[in-house]
Amino acid sequence: MTVIVAFVSQKGGVGKSTLARALAREATFGGVNVKIADLDTQQGTSVDWHRLRLSRGIEPTISVEAFSSSSHALAASEGFDLLIIDGPARTSQATLEIASAANLIVQPSGTSRDDLVPAVREFHALINESIPHERLVFSLNRVGTAAEESSARRYLEKAGYHVLEGFLRDRPAYRQAQNGGKAITETYYSKLNKQSNALIQSLIDRIPTYG
Ligand SMILES: Nc1ncnc2c1ncn2[C@@H]1O[C@H](COP(=O)(O)OP(=O)(O)OP(=O)(O)O)[C@@H](O)[C@H]1O
Ligand SMILES: [Mg+2]
Repeated sequence: MTVIVAFVSQKGGVGKSTLARALAREATFGGVNVKIADLDTQQGTSVDWHRLRLSRGIEPTISVEAFSSSSHALAASEGFDLLIIDGPARTSQATLEIASAANLIVQPSGTSRDDLVPAVREFHALINESIPHERLVFSLNRVGTAAEESSARRYLEKAGYHVLEGFLRDRPAYRQAQNGGKAITETYYSKLNKQSNALIQSLIDRIPTYG
């Protein structure tokens, strides 16, 4: 059976493609047969990154393909252990369709109130559409300080949602790594790799059958 992990958000630029690529890299490295379905056909972030990764000969090779909808991605997922959906921003209908298909739905969010309020609203909307609560998790991204991280975590937990234990600091090295076809677990800095790895591990622990 193919397990499906989806990255969604209404807000753009929160880290969906960043986390999708890191999860794909770590799971592939661990021997899992993975495919990223890039559903953001306008931007094609993961597809573009994949091409760059291939051209630079970065191992392991990760399978990435663009699809116009989650149902098309699902239809092509046979033979893969893990299908990672890199979702588009700002399309509630597509988000609901993706969430309905996924075993785990991850919403990255920044730590400011401006980020947290719409992020919680998005998950409440999915609950209203009967998406099971235990499938929804938050991932804190672009964290500045420890205080910021803990207060954002408290806010999301109070709203009733699970927040992944790990988190990502806002670091140019994460951007640089991805600019060069690498994942955020493959930067030049071991401390940053350790932190992104811890986040991805906490994500893997939430995946039914892997956790
Ligand atoms: N923790 C971080 N530190 C520094 N830069 C980051 C971090 N997380 C993401 N970025 C950068 O922010 C930008 C947006 O990230 P990403 O493409 O993952 O977001 P997205 O949610 O997929 O965006 P979109 O909604 O446009 O698809 C990228 O340039 C990425 O490299
Ligand atoms: Mg994206």
